[in-house]
Amino acid sequence: MKKKVSKAIFPVAGLGTRFLPATKSIPKEILTLVDRPLIQYAIDEAREAGIKEFIFVTAKGKNALEDYFDAAPELEKALRKKKKTDLLRELKATDMDSGAIAYIRQREALGLGHAVWCARRLIGNEPFAVILPDDVIASEKPCLQQMAEQYAETGGNIVAAMEVRQDETSLYGILNPKEDFQQFVTVKDMAEKPDPATAPSNLAVIGRYILEPQIMQNLNKMKKGSGGEIQLTDAIAQEARNGGQVYGYRFKGKRYDCGSKSGYLRATLAFGLMRDDLKDDLMEYLTEIMGVRQAAE
Ligand code: UTP
Repeated sequence: MKKKVSKAIFPVAGLGTRFLPATKSIPKEILTLVDRPLIQYAIDEAREAGIKEFIFVTAKGKNALEDYFDAAPELEKALRKKKKTDLLRELKATDMDSGAIAYIRQREALGLGHAVWCARRLIGNEPFAVILPDDVIASEKPCLQQMAEQYAETGGNIVAAMEVRQDETSLYGILNPKEDFQQFVTVKDMAEKPDPATAPSNLAVIGRYILEPQIMQNLNKMKKGSGGEIQLTDAIAQEARNGGQVYGYRFKGKRYDCGSKSGYLRATLAFGLMRDDLKDDLMEYLTEIMGVRQAAE
């Protein structure tokens, strides 16, 4: 029987330079979509996939992220006194069990692969998930849950994959597929941010992974890759080249790249339009500004 995946790593130690100056003092993962920080969407997705242990790889300047998960007894007391039961319920839904979260420090931002490797002692000899909170995925069934179901059937290393335009391959890790089974492909190799002319496919890896402990062993070797960083893609590609099981899973859902400004703004709109309390007002405003734009053209 396949082991269940109960641990997830959230690498949140990056510098978030694309959101400067905001990220001088606010971790990128605390930026909100409507009224929930990005990290809350990631935690909810992990919980729904059965994750019980949440490992954050953090860095200097990320205290707001740790504070976010603290209990808020004064706030709760004030809401109770004012009989704001709806808000109280929303707040309670963000509670985490004592001991469910661990924080590990990445001393230097040496890359995503290095950040994941920093959690190796807490992972031990178990499969683990990796979630990048700046990739937010809107879907009926949470993306990681879809992948956990795939893992229960096939095991191996599973990366979330999506088709991108040929001219976008240089923004992603790209899969070199062996066989295509529609829902997933088997992978023989991967390339980090390849030029469109040399990209092995247009199947890109996004920020959800279920990985076997062997990946930590591969990361032990610590070779620098694209951009001088230690890349998670390289450690998974090595596994594929060594004949290990690597799958690219075509998840169902819409992914928003909240690590980029335009992706974040699109997500803000999309998540606002999904909310009953906001959609009418937002639609009215969008119609109004589109009208102004068309009149100007
Ligand atoms: P990004 O490539 O988005 O980098 O990292 P970044 O630093 O967060 O943002 P920019 O590009 O400067 O704007 C992808 C994920 O990997 C984590 C980030 O926190 C993010 O979740 N990461 C990256 C680390 O934890 N450590 C690193 O050394 C690099």
